Amino acid sequence: MTFPGPSTGRQVGLPPTAHFVPLTMKTHHDKYEELAAKSALALAPAGAAAIAKQHERGKLSARERITALVDEGSFTELDRFVVHRTDAAAMADKDFLGDGVITGRATIDGRQVFLFSQDFTVLGGSLGEAYAEKICKVMDLAIRTGSPMIGINDSGGARIQEGVVSLGGYAEIFWRNVQASGVIPQISLIAGPCAGGAVYSPAITDFIIMTEGISQMFITGPEIIKTVTGEDVTFEELGGAHTHAAKSGVAHLVATDEDDAVALTKTLLSYIPQNNLDDPPEFACDDDPHREIPELDDVIPDSANKPYDMHDVIGPILDNDDFFEIHGEYARNIICGFGRIAGRSVGVVANQPNVLAGVLDIASSIKAARFVRFCDAFNIPLLTFVDVPGFLPGTDQEFGGIILHGAKLLYAYAEATVPKITVITRKAYGGAYDVMASKHIRADINLAWPTAEIAVMGAEGAVKVINRRELAAGSDKDATMKALIDDYNDRFANPYIAAQRGYVDDVIEARRTRGAIADALVMLADKRVDRPKRKHGNIPL
Ligand code: HXC
Repeated sequence: MTFPGPSTGRQVGLPPTAHFVPLTMKTHHDKYEELAAKSALALAPAGAAAIAKQHERGKLSARERITALVDEGSFTELDRFVVHRTDAAAMADKDFLGDGVITGRATIDGRQVFLFSQDFTVLGGSLGEAYAEKICKVMDLAIRTGSPMIGINDSGGARIQEGVVSLGGYAEIFWRNVQASGVIPQISLIAGPCAGGAVYSPAITDFIIMTEGISQMFITGPEIIKTVTGEDVTFEELGGAHTHAAKSGVAHLVATDEDDAVALTKTLLSYIPQNNLDDPPEFACDDDPHREIPELDDVIPDSANKPYDMHDVIGPILDNDDFFEIHGEYARNIICGFGRIAGRSVGVVANQPNVLAGVLDIASSIKAARFVRFCDAFNIPLLTFVDVPGFLPGTDQEFGGIILHGAKLLYAYAEATVPKITVITRKAYGGAYDVMASKHIRADINLAWPTAEIAVMGAEGAVKVINRRELAAGSDKDATMKALIDDYNDRFANPYIAAQRGYVDDVIEARRTRGAIADALVMLADKRVDRPKRKHGNIPL
């Protein structure tokens, strides 16, 4: 019995006469040959030429991607002999083994994950019924075993020949994405097109990693956009990695190439646990948790209006100056990312005075709220650095719903039950003081530097409101203003009023911050919070 080799690009099952061949005609040897032939075919169902074409597009094959990502020899494939079962005439000769997606289980740095890798060489990686069932099977296994789920996306979307059945398949995947949310980490790698409704599976996952140059995500492509709105836009401008990293915020990380996508995925996994009942992996730490950082004492400029880079605070405080930033290109007025203190993961959220003076606006509130909720769902303590002048004023913000979106961050912090440690480095003004993990919304340990200014607003704005009459009456307006500002700063813009009331637990020299955080994390390691029973809250979406 012969089967065509991979290079023919055509999978054929049993020959038409096979039905009538008595089983006894097949020897033991024949049966093993049949398996070997089918196995070879399943490795490259569309053939070597199709893989060569995939390489010409600058992309690895679906199987090469898995090999690059997982521990050597750890991949156990499931369902490699699945084929489509549509009776559409156009699909009659397209029963490719595996049906265009590779699924299975593997380990990454020794930890179990489930994964799928869409095979663009088979019908453009398009998703049909059997294909969707394969993905659902591994998602179910990931949920059942509490293992991260990784999806590698490279697909033309719904398989047109399978019609509504394909749409149903997508919805089955979306439903599982939602069931898995907050139970197991879900990571999407975008390594080719991801268009139409297909984008909604990655969108529900926790992290989207897009690779420069080869990945695009969009709901409708350039041609439809041209027809409907008249706009001219290229695939890359519309839905490329940097568009989604910087403009839409859809992508959390951008990889420079496919190797980098693998590296980013591994690094990301190293900070997060297997599931919501587990703790993140702990690493041996040779960086003294109580290491003093003298340069932090000089980070804050004397002028309240002078910016500084909050990265210069975050990095040195973390183990080995190692900060893994998430959403680094998007809403840069807030910084989110992972690091470790004494070998244990922390999720860092920090206002960035270097960008828009660190104000909270719509985009930064949404960005940070989602990050806070991820950390809370997966037992990662939250470390918040505050230097925030307030919410961004303007009609753009008000009409865009800053009220609603700012409330998301407030809600996320208030809802979070993981250990919450807050460090106020400079400004903590107004409503933004409350929002940024203040004591009142149940941060556990709140620290302030001597440079902290915890007040309703900054001195200049405050003086203009509360000293209007003195300012109008004074003969030397500049001198009056200066005197009033100095007085306000002395009386209000400091950490001690909050400290007197216990709103901050201590005022510490900046140099001691790492040690204070390390101690707080030890103190809070067994934190338990009981919340009232409810179906779910109603976060202002
Ligand atoms: C069936 C598809 C397909 C699809 C591509 N192919 N998309 N087959 N269903 N959705 C096939 C092509 O016919 C071709 O087959 C092979 O895959 C490679 O496609 P090319 O067009 O040659 O590749 P390329 O030039 O790189 O373009 C890739 C592409 C383009 C941009 C993805 O193929 C494309 O626009 N496809 C249609 C995308 C789309 O509109 N999908 C539906 C979206 S709506 P041959 O045999 O010639 O090699 C959707 C709804 C989901 O997905 C809803 C969920 C709720």
